[in-house]
Amino acid sequence: MYYDARKNNHGLEYDPVKAIVAPRPIGWISTINEEGGVNLAPYSFFNLVSYRPHYVMFSSHGRKDSLRNAEREGEFVCSVATLPLFDEVNRTGAAVAPDVDEMQLAGLEAMPSQFVRPPRVAKSPAALECRYHQTVELPAADRHGEAYFMVIGEVVGVYIEDRVLRGGRYNTEMAEALGRLGYFDYTVARTIDVPAEPS
Ligand SMILES: Cc1cc2nc3c(=O)[nH]c(=O)nc-3n(C[C@H](O)[C@H](O)[C@H](O)COP(=O)(O)O)c2cc1C
Repeated sequence: MYYDARKNNHGLEYDPVKAIVAPRPIGWISTINEEGGVNLAPYSFFNLVSYRPHYVMFSSHGRKDSLRNAEREGEFVCSVATLPLFDEVNRTGAAVAPDVDEMQLAGLEAMPSQFVRPPRVAKSPAALECRYHQTVELPAADRHGEAYFMVIGEVVGVYIEDRVLRGGRYNTEMAEALGRLGYFDYTVARTIDVPAEPS
């Protein structure tokens, strides 16, 4: 098949593009809300976009709490969303009032970060502590739709649980990082086919 993406005339039950750009890693974004409490939410429009320095981005459909907190406080933390924490990831994706502490709501322990104020998810095997850099607004397809806001941050601190460091490498398989596919499907980074010399 072939279709015009701008007309979205694929004739399928659901838009297939999110299933094509898959798996997408899930950044579990923690920020500080206006009351000084903790906000936590999963974002699968999330990725590392550069190296030296490391910039990461997450994209908010509309101006959600994570975006507003990151802009106001200038900081956010991306904990790795994992299979053992799948239920908690989903629970923190629920829409709640800005002052609700989603870590508490999901029964998660918060661990203080070293370089920024928002804490990381204690049980997550890795976290990127970020300084807010910029927001890029991406207009919606039609004028009634909500715009997307890509929040870019520079990684200023990296936490890695010792358990997932094997032979001097971060072992993605042991971390059981969740990836989002299309629809409501997920995958887990399990098989690592390591070439002799990674490029
Ligand atoms: C696995 C998963 C991935 C998600 N990815 C995104 C995303 O990339 N962008 C987005 O705007 N919402 C995404 N959501 C929905 C947000 O997590 C949800 O709207 C949340 O309530 C936002 O919280 P906040 O207002 O505290 O930022 C996702 C939800 C789940 C469960």
